[in-house]
Formats: sequence, C-alpha cells, structure tokens
Amino acid sequence: MSLEELIRRIPKAELHIHIEGSLEPELMFDIARRNSVGLRFRSVDELRRAYAFTDLQSFLDIYYEGASVLRTERDFYEMTAAYLRRAAADNVRHAEIFFDPQTHTSRGISFETVFGGISGALRDGPISSKLILCFLRHLSAESAMETLEAALPFKSGIVAVGLDSSEVGNPPSKFASVFSRARSEGLLTVAHAGEEGPPSYIREAIDLLGVSRIDHGVRCLEDPQLVQEIVAHKIPLTVCPLSNVKLRVFRSMKDHNLRTLLRHGVRATINSDDPAYFGGYIVENFRAAAEALALTESDIRQLARNSFEASFLSPEEKEKMLR
Ligand code: HPA
Ligand code: ZN
Repeated sequence: MSLEELIRRIPKAELHIHIEGSLEPELMFDIARRNSVGLRFRSVDELRRAYAFTDLQSFLDIYYEGASVLRTERDFYEMTAAYLRRAAADNVRHAEIFFDPQTHTSRGISFETVFGGISGALRDGPISSKLILCFLRHLSAESAMETLEAALPFKSGIVAVGLDSSEVGNPPSKFASVFSRARSEGLLTVAHAGEEGPPSYIREAIDLLGVSRIDHGVRCLEDPQLVQEIVAHKIPLTVCPLSNVKLRVFRSMKDHNLRTLLRHGVRATINSDDPAYFGGYIVENFRAAAEALALTESDIRQLARNSFEASFLSPEEKEKMLR
C-alpha cells in the first residue's frame, strides 16, 4: 500500500475541529440567503479570495463573520451533518468537536438552538462523536461562567470544555475558576495553548486548568523541561498542520515541528482545525505534513494510534477502535 493510500484508509480520530470552521462557502451562502443575512462578499469566489490570513486574529475576524449566517437549529444541524459526512469519507471513525456558544448567544441565538442543532446531527451522524464547549478567551471570565451555567442542563451531551480565540494577552490563568467549576461538574478540560502564545501558557493550562490535552501546543519545543513533562505525563497535543502554515505559526510546512515532536516521544495527533478556511480536511493535513516532513509509514500509524489513545473514548471503546 502506498503512503497516500495508507493515509486515506487508516482509521483515524479527529480531536481538534471547530464546527463553525467547517462551514464551507457554498453552504454559508445557502444559509445566508435562506435567513436573509447579508454578507459583504458577493460570491463564493470573492469570499474564498478573502481567506488570505496573516495571523490568528486576521482569521478569527472572518471566521466570526462567516458564523453570523447561522440562526436556526436547522442551520447548525446542516453544518454539522456536512462535516460528519466529509470526515467519514476520510475514514475518521470518531470526532471530538468544538463549538463556540458565545459566538451565537452574543447575537441573540439561544444556547438551546445551537446545542440542539449540533447535537441532533451528532446523534443522527455516521460516526462516533463527542462535543466540547469552547469559551472565547477574548471575552471575560464572567461571560465564560454564564456560558457554563447555560450549558449545565445539557452537560450529559458535553464531554469537556475548552478555550479558543485570541490567545496572546488572554492566558489560561484568566479562566482558572471557570475551569475549576467545570471540573467539579464532572466535565473534562482542554485548552488551546502554545499556538501563538508562549510555552508558559501551556504550563498554565496544565497546572491551572487541569487539561487532559493541549490544542496546538507546538511552541512547547521552546522549553525543553516542558517537553519532558508533556512526554512523561503523556499529555497529547492536537496539532493542526495546515492551520499552522495558513496562520503563519510556521513559514512553510517544511518548517513545521511535527516530526521533531514525534521524535521526542510527544503524543501528537493530526487534525484539521477549521477545514473550510485552511484548505483541507484531515487527510489533506496528513498528506501535506507527510510530504513536507518525509513522514514514514510508522509515523502515520503512530499518529493514527495516538488519535484514539488521546481521545475521550472509554478504555473499551479505545481498544475496539485500535484493533
Ligand atoms: N485558534 C484559536 N481559536 C480558534 C482557532 C484556532 O486555531 N480556530 C477557531 N478558533
Ligand atoms: Zn483550534
């Protein structure tokens, strides 16, 4: 089997996918028309041309604008169902999906509408899945706490809370009490850290937020002591290669440190982050990284194995998926 075929066929788990980042321009325009929401782009092509990012914030500005077309439960359902179909085609067997309730509640869309649409599609979906509620870190800790309160009646459908949006200047410590409350409610925790922010944010996420995984985390290599801890405690990193190049965390895919992370024994995984914006789903991410970094068959198998081991599936479910 060629490496290309192995990448496509090997069963995978996806652990870092923002559902709002899976909204393809065509569906965005369909939903905008249905809801009579105006977009400042006149066509799918014009919108795609705007996807030229210089850093995380330049992406987030367009990403929040795109999400503004979503208004009804049906919109959230269709977006999620489309992602699940696409992931299944890449032989993703299990997905742990982020959603950003504050992006919608701040526009007057209820938590119930957002959660109802997404969780309905997950229930009806072709693959195994879990849901992770992300707090927007550019907003206040009070707003995050209100969001957590609104989510608690639905917590049986939520496995963990996470932290995303503008990283620099919004350290994990800002959300220590919210995450502590979430953990006391039985929720697991993850956080974006060390994407644009310094290694100290990764350490804060581990020490103050009690995270089970770090999202991105690629800047950990700047702190050898931290790398040792991440390896010793088997703290997984959900790495997103195409995202990192599009948002200029690395200058090119050849400069990406994924292979180095693997050689250090870090439990790294490959994920798509916001596939509608960054030029590809999970197979595209594997392909681009494998080609630029000369990953081996054994690396690909390790990455796929890592994805199930790093997941929030039960030990029995993990065993089954790994077999
Ligand atoms: N980083 C931070 N926030 C995000 C991202 C990301 O890569 N994608 C969607 N929200
Ligand atoms: Zn992300």
